[in-house]
Amino acid sequence: MSQLVTVREVDALEPEVVGELLRDHPYDDYRRHRRIAPDAALAFLRERAQESAAAERCHRLLARDRSDGRPAGVLMLQYLSHDSELLGRPMGGIPFLLVRADHPDPGDVLRALLLSLPYLVQREGYSHVSVRIDSADIAAYHELTDAGFRLMETLVSMAYDTERRGIGVIDPAEFGFDGVVRTVEPRDHDAVAEMSRKRFTLNRYHLDQSISHEAAGELMARWARSYCENDQDCQVWVAEGKGGELAGFLGHQLNRGLEKHSGILVSGRALLAVEDPRTGVGQMLSRAHTWQSPGDYKEADTQLNNYGMIKASFKLDMDMVRTKYTFHR
Ligand SMILES: CC(C)(COP(=O)(O)OP(=O)(O)OC[C@H]1O[C@@H](n2cnc3c(N)ncnc32)[C@H](O)[C@@H]1OP(=O)(O)O)[C@@H](O)C(=O)NCCC(=O)NCCS
Repeated sequence: MSQLVTVREVDALEPEVVGELLRDHPYDDYRRHRRIAPDAALAFLRERAQESAAAERCHRLLARDRSDGRPAGVLMLQYLSHDSELLGRPMGGIPFLLVRADHPDPGDVLRALLLSLPYLVQREGYSHVSVRIDSADIAAYHELTDAGFRLMETLVSMAYDTERRGIGVIDPAEFGFDGVVRTVEPRDHDAVAEMSRKRFTLNRYHLDQSISHEAAGELMARWARSYCENDQDCQVWVAEGKGGELAGFLGHQLNRGLEKHSGILVSGRALLAVEDPRTGVGQMLSRAHTWQSPGDYKEADTQLNNYGMIKASFKLDMDMVRTKYTFHR
């Protein structure tokens, strides 16, 4: 038991508590985007934390310092309805695992929160729990592994700053491609979903032995399809060969919440796949994204061992802005 903090499940998180837990938070996702003001990024994070805490089927464990009752850390556990339905088992995710930035012993706070987690997981009947942390948060890495969480993937995020690096219009011929790059149409949706099902194999779902490859593929297919069907916040580029065949696609999502706080639009969570690797199509679609998609920054996330994707991003002058670990238990 921790000598420093007490942990309780709470019905709600007051804005002041979230504010105190996030003051000077060191691991914000946008801390390396020069054009995004840190205050605006933190305001967006506070809003997300507040929304998560208030979501249906979210449970909150709050750690408070024994000495003065100040909030020391929080762990939120959320039912993942989409994953649970698809995989046929109750699954939970931890959207927030936070320690107050000026806390003298983050490891102790995290340990205390994670000690209380199994009770909550058992009560909710979850057979699977996932969590993602910034790789700089070494205390969380240590405590999660000690608590039995297993590393599933290391994510690298690259960002293209349109102001610094410029924009333009691509010419497929310059990439040796005999065809066109255009935005997706309803007739492409099935082919995009199938390519997504087949080509994404390095992600945490595929690497988790408790999840079948078939189910992992279906998750990726649905993800790509959801981008095709959401033309408000998402955009999908396709490369169509001269015979009408799909040679590749790139889908991305615009972060409207961050834009509301900062005035800067980030296009991220990009999904990129090609039919025939190493023929320049990936590079061409990434160029279409970085140059022609809406947004001030264009982001690409991938696994640390996805050498092709990382190379394509570096060749386009994208900067590495974030690295994360994903754990499953
Ligand atoms: C990652 C992916 C999109 C790259 O697209 P691609 O069309 O194969 O890449 P390109 O042919 O445009 O190559 C771009 C550069 O990366 C290099 N490259 C491509 N794949 C590589 C690999 N596996 N290892 C090392 N370098 C690689 C190419 O040689 C080229 O560099 P060069 O011009 O100096 O020779 C493609 O391999 C793919 O569909 N992978 C499966 C899906 C996926 O993992 N997507 C990324 C995560 S969203």
